[in-house]
Amino acid sequence: MKLSVIGCGYLGAVHAAAMASLGHEVVGIDVDQAKIDALAEGRAPFFEPGLPELLTETHGSGQLVFSTDVAAAADCQVHFIAVGTPQQVDGPGADLRFVNAAVDSLLPHLKPGDLVVGKSTVPVGTADSLAPRIEATGAELAWNPEFLREGFAVKDTIEPDRLVYGVRSERARNLLDQVYSTAVAAGTPLVVTDYPTAELVKTAANAFLATKISFINAMAELAETTGADVTQLADAIGYDKRIGRKFLNAGVGFGGGCLPKDIRAFRARAEELGRGESLAFLREIDEINLRCRQRVITLATELLGGSVYQRRIAVLGLAFKPNSDDIRDSPAADVAVGLNGLGAEVVAYDPEAIENARRTHPQLTYAASTKEALADAEAVVLVTEWDEFKQLDPTAVADQVSQRVIIDGRNVLDREAWRAAGWRYAGLGRS
Ligand code: UDX
Repeated sequence: MKLSVIGCGYLGAVHAAAMASLGHEVVGIDVDQAKIDALAEGRAPFFEPGLPELLTETHGSGQLVFSTDVAAAADCQVHFIAVGTPQQVDGPGADLRFVNAAVDSLLPHLKPGDLVVGKSTVPVGTADSLAPRIEATGAELAWNPEFLREGFAVKDTIEPDRLVYGVRSERARNLLDQVYSTAVAAGTPLVVTDYPTAELVKTAANAFLATKISFINAMAELAETTGADVTQLADAIGYDKRIGRKFLNAGVGFGGGCLPKDIRAFRARAEELGRGESLAFLREIDEINLRCRQRVITLATELLGGSVYQRRIAVLGLAFKPNSDDIRDSPAADVAVGLNGLGAEVVAYDPEAIENARRTHPQLTYAASTKEALADAEAVVLVTEWDEFKQLDPTAVADQVSQRVIIDGRNVLDREAWRAAGWRYAGLGRS
């Protein structure tokens, strides 16, 4: 099939490349010339494992092309909207400017029988409001939320856990079945539903995941006060299959381009719908999450005797999670910035996210390696659980720092091994 993908960010670029690898003819469209140039040359404009391979595989085959001109979508039958829906600058709601612009730019190129497929995460009710403009061209709209995780985006796109189609006709459903024929043939669970359910599935899933993380971080706060161990607590409750162990890792909390802004937008939408009380708890989820970042800063302050001012602190991690270069709403970057704001001499290192961090936080000092970050540090703060940091040997690095103090903001280090090597170790929710 001939597909267009409007928006070539983390979601769209991976979607375009994955669809091409599945045998479709795909044109990826974005207003960002630099991004399109990189993709057209077969280069990934951001770090995402597996994406460079997909781009190389399809490069030059004609199967996957990129353009800044939406007219390139004219001979496609299915058009994916994969643009961002960031948080509004002046409020908690979603900024739909890019979704509206994408649809507006596409309208002149739509023909009867085309299917426009919304993948962006939007407030419930958006599809209903977009549909009349699309239907006026003889095309149709479907909402097909995407659940990919950064770092696993390629796998999540090619082998999704489930497919959700918000459709108004059998024809739309059949077209989506053709697009996803590989996943459908593999027996991927499929939910065929209406627009509002499809939209809500996405925001509800992200709200649930955020709730799970903030729940365990709230338990971490209690564990700290009572002397309990939140990691063992998570293991013990996680053995209950109804609860499950996944997404119960306490630490510096969730970040990224999705969970934080999605729970805020979800709550804002509920308020608009007169159902604010239904999602009022998401404010607590957000607040617990933001407290975790502060807690790491407080721990560093305590371990350094009450002040971080002019103390050299190695911050390991800037990305919001490992295997990503994304620093959007990153707890790790926030901790680095917070410590720097208190006058600490922060030296930060991340295997992939420094370039992005440098643009947004030029005031920080960046190291070229873990070793350089650790040199003469009076405290080490691990905030993104890259393998490289998890595998640090506490004995081998002990002589690189000036003081053996480690704050494990992701609870991923072997506490006993670090203590045995003479370090003062502090995790979150475990003493
Ligand atoms: C998330 C959803 O998982 C995905 O389905 C959706 O499409 C987009 O949003 P992503 O933002 O890539 O994906 O990251 P995810 O792996 O969900 O992690 C989100 C954040 O939660 C990260 O900052 C991570 O470090 C944190 N996290 C995750 C925890 O703090 N504890 C956990 O136990 C799990």
